[in-house]
Amino acid sequence: MSDEWIKVATVDELPPGERIVVDVDYEWVAIFNVGGTLYAINDTCSHDEASLAEGDLDGHEIACPLHGARFDIRSGDVLSSPAVVGVDTYEVKIEGDDIYIRLP
Ligand code: FES
Repeated sequence: MSDEWIKVATVDELPPGERIVVDVDYEWVAIFNVGGTLYAINDTCSHDEASLAEGDLDGHEIACPLHGARFDIRSGDVLSSPAVVGVDTYEVKIEGDDIYIRLP
């Protein structure tokens, strides 16, 4: 993994209310734009490997599309079963027209 900022998308690709999934150093990362603020989490559900970006987002809570576990996209914390552990979060920033994330 890298500790450097990695360009993953452009601002045009992620307007408010949208989400994208990007492959960064073999990690699937979901990036959400909630009212102009970006949040990046590991896209793979900690329960059974579903893509969290395919779930419904309610505020800052994403519901896994497979079994319904909910996660807070700000912290990665798990909010409801059947998942019992959270998912990783990543630093994300905008520079100019580009979106960058940083893996730990
Ligand atoms: S795969 Fe996400 S709750 Fe089961």
